[in-house]
Amino acid sequence: MTVHVHAPGRVNLIGEHTDQTGGLVLPMAIDRGVTITAEPGTVVNLRSELTDSRAVLQFDPEDGTAVGTRSGWARHVAAVVDELAALGRPPVGMTGVVRSDLPAGSGLSSSAALQVALAVALAVVAEWEIDPLLLAQACQRAEFAAVGVPCGLMDQAASMMARRGHALLLDCSSLERRHVPIPDGVQVLIIDSGVTRQLEHTPYAQRLAEMERGMALIGGRRPADVTTEELDAVMTGLAGVPGRRLRHVVTENHRVRLFVAAVEIGEVDVIALGAILDASHASLRDDLEVSVPELDRLVEIARRRGALGARLTGAGFGGSVIALVPADAVEEVGAAVVAEARSALHLPVTAMSASPAAGAASRAGWI
Ligand code: GLA
Repeated sequence: MTVHVHAPGRVNLIGEHTDQTGGLVLPMAIDRGVTITAEPGTVVNLRSELTDSRAVLQFDPEDGTAVGTRSGWARHVAAVVDELAALGRPPVGMTGVVRSDLPAGSGLSSSAALQVALAVALAVVAEWEIDPLLLAQACQRAEFAAVGVPCGLMDQAASMMARRGHALLLDCSSLERRHVPIPDGVQVLIIDSGVTRQLEHTPYAQRLAEMERGMALIGGRRPADVTTEELDAVMTGLAGVPGRRLRHVVTENHRVRLFVAAVEIGEVDVIALGAILDASHASLRDDLEVSVPELDRLVEIARRRGALGARLTGAGFGGSVIALVPADAVEEVGAAVVAEARSALHLPVTAMSASPAAGAASRAGWI
Protein backbone atom coordinates (compact mmCIF):
# COMPACT_ATOMS: atom_id res chain seq x y z
CA MET A 1 0.00 0.00 0.00
CA THR A 2 1.41 3.39 -0.99
CA VAL A 3 0.06 6.32 0.99
CA HIS A 4 -0.13 9.72 -0.67
CA VAL A 5 -1.11 12.66 1.52
CA HIS A 6 -1.14 16.37 0.80
CA ALA A 7 -1.58 19.08 3.44
CA PRO A 8 -1.85 22.68 2.21
CA GLY A 9 -0.37 25.87 3.58
CA ARG A 10 -2.73 28.74 4.38
CA VAL A 11 -3.25 32.45 4.34
CA ASN A 12 -5.47 34.09 6.89
CA LEU A 13 -8.06 36.48 5.46
CA ILE A 14 -8.96 38.10 8.77
CA GLY A 15 -8.72 37.29 12.49
CA GLU A 16 -5.02 37.66 13.18
CA HIS A 17 -3.57 36.86 16.61
CA THR A 18 -7.06 36.03 17.86
CA ASP A 19 -6.84 32.24 18.01
CA GLN A 20 -4.54 32.12 21.06
CA THR A 21 -7.24 33.78 23.16
CA GLY A 22 -10.09 31.64 21.89
CA GLY A 23 -11.29 34.05 19.22
CA LEU A 24 -12.46 33.97 15.61
CA VAL A 25 -10.32 33.29 12.55
CA LEU A 26 -11.01 33.07 8.81
CA PRO A 27 -8.09 31.32 7.09
CA MET A 28 -8.13 29.72 3.67
CA ALA A 29 -5.94 26.83 2.50
CA ILE A 30 -3.83 27.53 -0.58
CA ASP A 31 -2.81 25.37 -3.51
CA ARG A 32 0.69 24.78 -2.20
CA GLY A 33 1.70 22.49 0.59
CA VAL A 34 3.52 19.44 1.88
CA THR A 35 3.14 16.02 0.27
CA ILE A 36 4.13 12.69 1.79
CA THR A 37 4.40 9.52 -0.26
CA ALA A 38 5.16 6.49 1.89
CA GLU A 39 4.75 2.77 2.51
CA PRO A 40 3.86 1.34 5.92
CA GLY A 41 6.80 -0.08 7.88
CA THR A 42 8.09 -0.88 11.35
CA VAL A 43 9.94 2.44 11.84
CA VAL A 44 9.49 6.01 10.59
CA ASN A 45 12.07 6.71 7.92
CA LEU A 46 11.34 9.83 5.87
CA ARG A 47 13.54 11.76 3.50
CA SER A 48 12.95 15.43 2.91
CA GLU A 49 13.48 16.28 -0.73
CA LEU A 50 13.89 19.94 0.19
CA THR A 51 16.76 19.52 2.64
CA ASP A 52 17.96 16.11 1.45
CA SER A 53 17.98 14.92 5.05
CA ARG A 54 16.24 12.11 6.90
CA ALA A 55 14.08 11.74 9.96
CA VAL A 56 14.50 8.24 11.38
CA LEU A 57 12.54 7.22 14.46
CA GLN A 58 11.56 4.04 16.23
CA PHE A 59 8.73 3.46 18.68
CA ASP A 60 9.03 3.03 22.42
CA PRO A 61 7.61 -0.46 23.04
CA GLU A 62 5.89 0.78 26.21
CA ASP A 63 3.87 3.73 24.96
CA GLY A 64 4.46 4.08 21.20
CA THR A 65 6.26 7.44 21.51
CA ALA A 66 9.17 8.30 19.21
CA VAL A 67 12.71 7.17 19.92
CA GLY A 68 15.55 8.75 17.92
CA THR A 69 17.37 11.98 17.21
CA ARG A 70 15.15 15.03 17.49
CA SER A 71 16.90 17.71 15.51
CA GLY A 72 15.85 19.93 12.60
CA TRP A 73 12.58 18.88 11.01
CA ALA A 74 12.73 15.48 12.81
CA ARG A 75 11.56 17.41 15.92
CA HIS A 76 8.19 17.87 14.22
CA VAL A 77 8.00 14.23 13.15
CA ALA A 78 8.79 13.01 16.68
CA ALA A 79 6.35 15.43 18.28
CA VAL A 80 3.50 14.36 15.97
CA VAL A 81 4.27 10.66 16.61
CA ASP A 82 4.19 11.35 20.39
CA GLU A 83 0.90 13.25 20.30
CA LEU A 84 -0.77 10.57 18.20
CA ALA A 85 0.56 7.81 20.48
CA ALA A 86 -1.09 9.60 23.40
CA LEU A 87 -4.38 9.43 21.49
CA GLY A 88 -3.98 5.68 20.99
CA ARG A 89 -2.56 5.37 17.49
CA PRO A 90 -1.04 1.91 16.88
CA PRO A 91 2.77 2.20 16.45
CA VAL A 92 2.94 1.58 12.69
CA GLY A 93 5.82 3.33 10.89
CA MET A 94 6.30 4.51 7.32
CA THR A 95 9.13 4.85 4.82
CA GLY A 96 8.97 7.49 2.16
CA VAL A 97 9.54 10.99 0.89
CA VAL A 98 8.39 14.44 2.03
CA ARG A 99 8.06 17.14 -0.62
CA SER A 100 7.07 20.76 -0.21
CA ASP A 101 6.43 23.68 -2.51
CA LEU A 102 5.72 26.04 0.38
CA PRO A 103 8.44 28.53 1.12
CA ALA A 104 9.54 28.21 4.78
CA GLY A 105 9.51 31.30 6.99
CA SER A 106 7.09 33.15 4.67
CA GLY A 107 4.08 33.11 6.97
CA LEU A 108 2.25 30.45 4.93
CA SER A 109 2.31 27.80 7.67
CA SER A 110 4.87 25.40 6.32
CA SER A 111 5.34 23.77 9.72
CA ALA A 112 1.60 23.24 10.27
CA ALA A 113 1.35 21.74 6.77
CA LEU A 114 4.21 19.37 7.61
CA GLN A 115 2.60 18.32 10.89
CA VAL A 116 -0.82 17.83 9.34
CA ALA A 117 0.62 15.80 6.44
CA LEU A 118 2.53 13.64 8.95
CA ALA A 119 -0.51 13.17 11.16
CA VAL A 120 -2.79 12.12 8.30
CA ALA A 121 -0.14 9.82 6.80
CA LEU A 122 0.52 8.21 10.21
CA ALA A 123 -3.22 7.66 10.67
CA VAL A 124 -3.62 6.13 7.21
CA VAL A 125 -0.65 3.72 7.47
CA ALA A 126 -1.98 2.49 10.81
CA GLU A 127 -5.55 2.24 9.43
CA TRP A 128 -6.52 4.32 12.44
CA GLU A 129 -9.73 6.33 12.29
CA ILE A 130 -9.85 9.62 14.13
CA ASP A 131 -11.78 12.88 14.05
CA PRO A 132 -9.80 15.39 11.92
CA LEU A 133 -10.39 18.09 14.54
CA LEU A 134 -8.68 15.97 17.22
CA LEU A 135 -5.83 15.41 14.81
CA ALA A 136 -5.50 19.16 14.15
CA GLN A 137 -5.42 19.80 17.91
CA ALA A 138 -2.73 17.13 18.29
CA CYS A 139 -0.68 18.96 15.64
CA GLN A 140 -1.10 22.23 17.54
CA ARG A 141 0.28 20.56 20.68
CA ALA A 142 3.08 19.07 18.59
CA GLU A 143 4.11 22.56 17.45
CA PHE A 144 4.52 23.59 21.06
CA ALA A 145 6.34 20.38 21.96
CA ALA A 146 8.68 20.64 18.96
CA VAL A 147 9.64 24.31 19.00
CA GLY A 148 7.97 25.84 22.05
CA VAL A 149 5.63 28.16 20.14
CA PRO A 150 2.31 28.60 22.03
CA CYS A 151 0.36 28.89 18.78
CA GLY A 152 -3.40 28.76 18.41
CA LEU A 153 -5.34 26.24 16.31
CA MET A 154 -5.80 28.29 13.16
CA ASP A 155 -3.02 26.95 10.93
CA GLN A 156 -3.50 23.27 11.70
CA ALA A 157 -7.30 23.58 11.43
CA ALA A 158 -7.07 25.27 8.02
CA SER A 159 -4.55 22.78 6.67
CA MET A 160 -6.68 19.89 7.91
CA MET A 161 -10.28 20.98 7.42
CA ALA A 162 -10.52 23.70 4.76
CA ARG A 163 -12.89 23.22 1.85
CA ARG A 164 -12.11 24.06 -1.77
CA GLY A 165 -13.47 27.46 -2.84
CA HIS A 166 -14.04 28.51 0.79
CA ALA A 167 -12.42 30.04 3.82
CA LEU A 168 -12.85 28.35 7.20
CA LEU A 169 -14.60 30.36 9.91
CA LEU A 170 -13.49 28.87 13.20
CA ASP A 171 -14.38 29.88 16.74
CA CYS A 172 -11.25 28.75 18.59
CA SER A 173 -13.14 28.51 21.87
CA SER A 174 -16.31 26.59 21.03
CA LEU A 175 -14.62 25.02 17.97
CA GLU A 176 -17.77 25.76 15.98
CA ARG A 177 -16.91 26.21 12.33
CA ARG A 178 -18.42 26.81 8.95
CA HIS A 179 -17.16 27.18 5.42
CA VAL A 180 -17.54 30.68 4.00
CA PRO A 181 -17.43 31.03 0.19
CA ILE A 182 -14.86 33.36 -1.29
CA PRO A 183 -16.88 35.95 -3.22
CA ASP A 184 -16.81 35.97 -7.01
CA GLY A 185 -15.01 38.84 -8.60
CA VAL A 186 -12.14 39.07 -6.13
CA GLN A 187 -8.92 37.16 -5.79
CA VAL A 188 -6.39 36.92 -2.99
CA LEU A 189 -2.87 37.89 -3.97
CA ILE A 190 -0.06 36.65 -1.72
CA ILE A 191 2.94 38.94 -1.69
CA ASP A 192 5.95 37.35 -0.02
CA SER A 193 8.27 40.05 1.33
CA GLY A 194 11.35 37.83 1.27
CA VAL A 195 11.92 38.71 4.93
CA THR A 196 11.93 35.22 6.44
CA ARG A 197 11.57 34.38 10.11
CA GLN A 198 10.99 31.37 12.31
CA LEU A 199 8.22 31.85 14.80
CA GLU A 200 10.25 30.54 17.75
CA HIS A 201 12.70 33.41 17.24
CA THR A 202 10.06 36.16 17.25
CA PRO A 203 8.23 37.89 20.14
CA TYR A 204 5.14 35.74 19.35
CA ALA A 205 4.99 34.27 22.88
CA GLN A 206 5.65 37.68 24.41
CA ARG A 207 2.71 39.20 22.52
CA LEU A 208 0.47 36.45 23.87
CA ALA A 209 1.60 37.24 27.43
CA GLU A 210 0.88 40.93 26.80
CA MET A 211 -2.58 40.12 25.41
CA GLU A 212 -3.28 38.08 28.53
CA ARG A 213 -2.31 41.07 30.69
CA GLY A 214 -4.73 43.12 28.60
CA MET A 215 -7.46 40.59 29.30
CA ALA A 216 -7.09 41.35 33.01
CA LEU A 217 -8.59 44.76 32.16
CA ILE A 218 -11.83 42.99 31.17
CA GLY A 219 -11.86 40.63 34.13
CA GLY A 220 -10.23 37.79 32.16
CA ARG A 221 -13.17 37.50 29.78
CA ARG A 222 -12.74 36.19 26.26
CA PRO A 223 -11.90 39.20 24.05
CA ALA A 224 -14.26 37.90 21.35
CA ASP A 225 -17.16 38.41 23.80
CA VAL A 226 -16.33 42.04 24.54
CA THR A 227 -18.15 44.75 22.59
CA THR A 228 -16.35 47.76 21.19
CA GLU A 229 -18.39 49.95 23.62
CA GLU A 230 -17.12 47.93 26.59
CA LEU A 231 -13.64 48.26 25.18
CA ASP A 232 -13.95 52.06 24.99
CA ALA A 233 -14.88 52.09 28.67
CA VAL A 234 -11.70 50.27 29.74
CA MET A 235 -9.46 52.16 27.32
CA THR A 236 -9.86 55.41 29.25
CA GLY A 237 -7.02 56.13 31.65
CA LEU A 238 -3.69 54.33 31.65
CA ALA A 239 -4.39 51.23 29.60
CA GLY A 240 -0.82 51.30 28.17
CA VAL A 241 0.68 48.34 26.31
CA PRO A 242 -1.78 45.73 27.69
CA GLY A 243 -4.65 48.02 26.68
CA ARG A 244 -3.40 48.36 23.13
CA ARG A 245 -2.86 44.62 22.83
CA LEU A 246 -6.39 44.08 24.10
CA ARG A 247 -7.79 46.66 21.70
CA HIS A 248 -6.24 44.74 18.81
CA VAL A 249 -7.81 41.44 19.81
CA VAL A 250 -11.25 42.85 20.56
CA THR A 251 -11.44 44.89 17.35
CA GLU A 252 -9.96 42.08 15.25
CA ASN A 253 -12.62 39.62 16.42
CA HIS A 254 -15.18 42.27 15.54
CA ARG A 255 -13.63 42.62 12.07
CA VAL A 256 -14.01 38.86 11.47
CA ARG A 257 -17.73 39.16 12.15
CA LEU A 258 -18.01 42.21 9.89
CA PHE A 259 -16.09 40.49 7.08
CA VAL A 260 -18.18 37.30 7.23
CA ALA A 261 -21.42 39.30 7.39
CA ALA A 262 -20.33 41.31 4.36
CA VAL A 263 -19.51 38.12 2.41
CA GLU A 264 -22.67 36.26 3.37
CA ILE A 265 -25.05 39.13 2.70
CA GLY A 266 -25.45 38.29 -1.00
CA GLU A 267 -24.44 41.41 -2.94
CA VAL A 268 -20.87 41.57 -1.65
CA ASP A 269 -19.41 45.03 -1.14
CA VAL A 270 -15.79 44.31 -2.03
CA ILE A 271 -14.77 47.88 -1.18
CA ALA A 272 -15.97 47.25 2.38
CA LEU A 273 -13.98 43.98 2.52
CA GLY A 274 -10.85 45.84 1.45
CA ALA A 275 -11.38 48.47 4.15
CA ILE A 276 -11.65 45.73 6.79
CA LEU A 277 -8.28 44.33 5.71
CA ASP A 278 -6.74 47.80 5.85
CA ALA A 279 -8.06 48.37 9.37
CA SER A 280 -6.67 45.01 10.45
CA HIS A 281 -3.23 45.91 9.22
CA ALA A 282 -3.28 49.25 11.03
CA SER A 283 -4.24 47.47 14.24
CA LEU A 284 -1.53 44.81 13.85
CA ARG A 285 1.00 47.55 13.16
CA ASP A 286 0.03 50.08 15.83
CA ASP A 287 -1.74 48.19 18.61
CA LEU A 288 -0.18 44.72 18.50
CA GLU A 289 3.15 45.83 16.97
CA VAL A 290 3.80 42.68 14.95
CA SER A 291 4.51 44.35 11.62
CA VAL A 292 7.88 45.39 10.21
CA PRO A 293 8.58 48.36 7.90
CA GLU A 294 8.91 46.10 4.84
CA LEU A 295 5.38 44.71 5.34
CA ASP A 296 3.95 48.19 5.93
CA ARG A 297 5.56 49.31 2.72
CA LEU A 298 4.20 46.34 0.76
CA VAL A 299 0.71 47.02 2.05
CA GLU A 300 0.99 50.63 0.98
CA ILE A 301 2.35 49.73 -2.47
CA ALA A 302 -0.34 47.08 -3.01
CA ARG A 303 -3.11 49.57 -2.26
CA ARG A 304 -1.64 52.21 -4.50
CA ARG A 305 -1.25 49.66 -7.30
CA GLY A 306 -4.92 48.66 -7.31
CA ALA A 307 -5.62 46.36 -4.35
CA LEU A 308 -8.96 46.86 -2.60
CA GLY A 309 -7.22 46.32 0.73
CA ALA A 310 -4.12 44.63 2.11
CA ARG A 311 -2.69 43.37 5.37
CA LEU A 312 0.05 41.22 6.78
CA THR A 313 -1.04 37.60 7.11
CA GLY A 314 0.02 35.08 9.74
CA ALA A 315 2.11 35.98 12.75
CA GLY A 316 3.92 38.95 11.17
CA PHE A 317 7.51 40.00 12.01
CA GLY A 318 8.26 39.28 8.32
CA GLY A 319 6.66 36.81 5.92
CA SER A 320 3.79 37.68 3.60
CA VAL A 321 1.10 40.23 2.93
CA ILE A 322 -2.26 39.43 1.35
CA ALA A 323 -4.04 41.82 -0.96
CA LEU A 324 -7.66 41.57 -2.04
CA VAL A 325 -7.72 42.36 -5.74
CA PRO A 326 -10.44 42.53 -8.43
CA ALA A 327 -10.20 39.12 -10.12
CA ASP A 328 -9.55 40.58 -13.57
CA ALA A 329 -6.59 42.63 -12.32
CA VAL A 330 -4.60 40.07 -10.30
CA GLU A 331 -1.74 39.62 -12.73
CA GLU A 332 -1.41 43.29 -13.45
CA VAL A 333 -1.46 44.30 -9.78
CA GLY A 334 0.92 41.48 -8.81
CA ALA A 335 3.45 42.45 -11.46
CA ALA A 336 3.28 46.14 -10.58
CA VAL A 337 3.70 45.48 -6.84
CA VAL A 338 6.64 43.13 -7.38
CA ALA A 339 8.44 45.55 -9.71
CA GLU A 340 8.01 48.55 -7.42
CA ALA A 341 8.71 46.65 -4.19
CA ARG A 342 11.85 44.99 -5.48
CA SER A 343 13.43 48.27 -6.45
CA ALA A 344 12.22 50.11 -3.34
CA LEU A 345 13.03 47.44 -0.77
CA HIS A 346 15.91 45.54 -2.41
CA LEU A 347 14.27 42.29 -1.37
CA PRO A 348 13.35 39.19 -3.45
CA VAL A 349 9.63 40.06 -3.30
CA THR A 350 7.34 37.60 -5.14
CA ALA A 351 3.60 37.47 -5.74
CA MET A 352 1.20 34.66 -6.51
CA SER A 353 -2.55 34.48 -6.69
CA ALA A 354 -4.10 32.07 -4.23
CA SER A 355 -7.02 29.77 -4.96
CA PRO A 356 -8.89 28.48 -1.91
CA ALA A 357 -7.86 24.83 -1.70
CA ALA A 358 -9.07 21.73 0.14
CA GLY A 359 -7.52 20.62 3.42
CA ALA A 360 -5.78 17.30 3.98
CA ALA A 361 -8.82 15.58 5.50
CA SER A 362 -11.00 16.46 2.57
CA ARG A 363 -8.36 15.27 0.12
CA ALA A 364 -8.06 12.02 2.08
CA GLY A 365 -11.82 11.56 1.71
CA TRP A 366 -12.42 11.86 5.47
CA ILE A 367 -14.82 14.82 5.34
C1 GLA B 1 0.83 31.88 13.66
C2 GLA B 1 0.22 30.88 14.65
C3 GLA B 1 -1.30 30.93 14.60
C4 GLA B 1 -1.81 32.36 14.76
C5 GLA B 1 -1.08 33.31 13.80
C6 GLA B 1 -1.46 34.73 14.04
O1 GLA B 1 0.54 31.51 12.36
O2 GLA B 1 0.67 29.58 14.36
O3 GLA B 1 -1.83 30.08 15.58
O4 GLA B 1 -1.70 32.77 16.08
O5 GLA B 1 0.32 33.18 13.92
O6 GLA B 1 -2.80 34.95 13.74
